[in-house]
Amino acid sequence: MRILVIHGPNLQWLGTRNPAVYGTTDLKAIDRGLRSLAKELGATLDIHQSDHEGEITSLIGSSRGKFDGILINPAAYTHTSVAIRDAVEACEVPAVEVHLSHIAAREEFRQHSLIAPVCRGQIAGFGAGSYFLGLEALLMLLAGPTDRAAGGGTKKSPRKRAS
Ligand code: DQA
Repeated sequence: MRILVIHGPNLQWLGTRNPAVYGTTDLKAIDRGLRSLAKELGATLDIHQSDHEGEITSLIGSSRGKFDGILINPAAYTHTSVAIRDAVEACEVPAVEVHLSHIAAREEFRQHSLIAPVCRGQIAGFGAGSYFLGLEALLMLLAGPTDRAAGGGTKKSPRKRAS
């Protein structure tokens, strides 16, 4: 599975940016964690950080045929960007939205995501862990139906029983 990972504006300051809200893990550490998890789960990642709405829109717009899924933290653009929303919808590549903070419990202007309705799901509030949960969720979704209730896992899951 080829996954496009996008970090939106100001996420390059993680580690020192408002640590009470976003934690002390920096973006390089998050990317290292994502790469190691991806390796474990058999995925390859193409990771980008951008402060520019147009650049993010273009990355998403050209993702069709190149990527199987998108993991995105649109950061402040979550609450403002119709362009990014339209790109996610148009590219038809399944996307999962992640946030370090629990946006539903924050200021009113952060509680609404323009992007979430065109994503397959959203994970928020687990700090850096949101990215790892998000990647697992995206890969689970791409692997297709799972029957965890019957003791199985996703197709790619290391927990799947040998048949
Ligand atoms: C964020 C939440 C956004 O409201 C904010 O603008 C960010 C980070 C998060 O990961 O919690 O930059 O996306």
